[in-house]
Amino acid sequence: MEEERIIASEVSDPEDVALDVTLRPKRLVEYIGQTRVKQNLEIFMAAAKKRNEPLEHVLLYGPPGLGKTTLAGVIANEMGVNIKVTSGPAIERAGDVAAILTNLEEGDILFIDEIHRLQKTVEEVLYPAMEDYSLDLIVGKGPSARVLKLDLPRFTLIGATTRISLLSSPLRDRFGAIYPLSFYEEDEISNIIARSSRILSIQVENRANTIIAQRSRRTPRIANRLLKRVRDYADVKADGTVTEDVAHAALDMLEVDALGLDMVDRKILIAIIEKFGGGPVGLGTLAASTSEEEATIEDIYEPYLMQLGFLERTPRGRMTTDRAHEHLGISLDSPSNLFES
Ligand code: ADE
Repeated sequence: MEEERIIASEVSDPEDVALDVTLRPKRLVEYIGQTRVKQNLEIFMAAAKKRNEPLEHVLLYGPPGLGKTTLAGVIANEMGVNIKVTSGPAIERAGDVAAILTNLEEGDILFIDEIHRLQKTVEEVLYPAMEDYSLDLIVGKGPSARVLKLDLPRFTLIGATTRISLLSSPLRDRFGAIYPLSFYEEDEISNIIARSSRILSIQVENRANTIIAQRSRRTPRIANRLLKRVRDYADVKADGTVTEDVAHAALDMLEVDALGLDMVDRKILIAIIEKFGGGPVGLGTLAASTSEEEATIEDIYEPYLMQLGFLERTPRGRMTTDRAHEHLGISLDSPSNLFES
């Protein structure tokens, strides 16, 4: 059975997409958290406006769900330009990116999510486009082949990635600003939950807000998703108000624990502890033994487990920490029974 992924950070559910759009802040002042990035961006944008130039290319990186797409939308709004949204895997051929680039208007933003997944041939079209706003087309074949240079409108590329280490250095070097997005503080997540409940007209008691915030993995997308599930529970099992009891009951039912770990997190940690004596274990082996994909473990689960200090990545593989053992209530010599059948 496919387990419900309340924690998964991809946006796949159409209802979530709609929700994301309603809740997304439009202006920088509405965007909660990431204070340093906002301070830098404010100056970066003001300077570009003052010089009457398009914004230099921006790279946003960090774990999924922290607001990279949202921030790109905010930048477009603040600059008063259009944004065209696409993603690395969606651009299949060099011709696709050429078509997108030639359709942009002066100052427009092209947002490429998962930019580390671009094809090499597509990336090569982007280099001169980013550097000189030039589209270099190869015309003809063999000895008579020539390069035809077309001028492009001066645009801004905003790239987003969860894996900056997978970005080629020629591409990375062409960004004028590189901003890391980090996990939010718990009070910032509380503010986001309060803002979202106002927008969605959900009554959430303060203590219930705290409980949801504590279980949101410091991630706005997850906070908003949990809020929605808790609201469902409040509507069906109570009078619609999200009280402390409602929040506890709803989140327990979703098997999201007090630190926001779900069953997949627990499965990963317990596998390392029980099958590999606490590690070190290689990613491939861990993926095979938990039936999760390597990329899912690496992009979605590990960043938060490492942030909690539950997991370490060492040169020899992944290891669990004493903190993880304490939280799960198991020690290396008194295993749980998760893997017994
Ligand atoms: N919704 C999602 N991310 C947000 C953020 N950083 N600030 C406010 N609302 C959000």
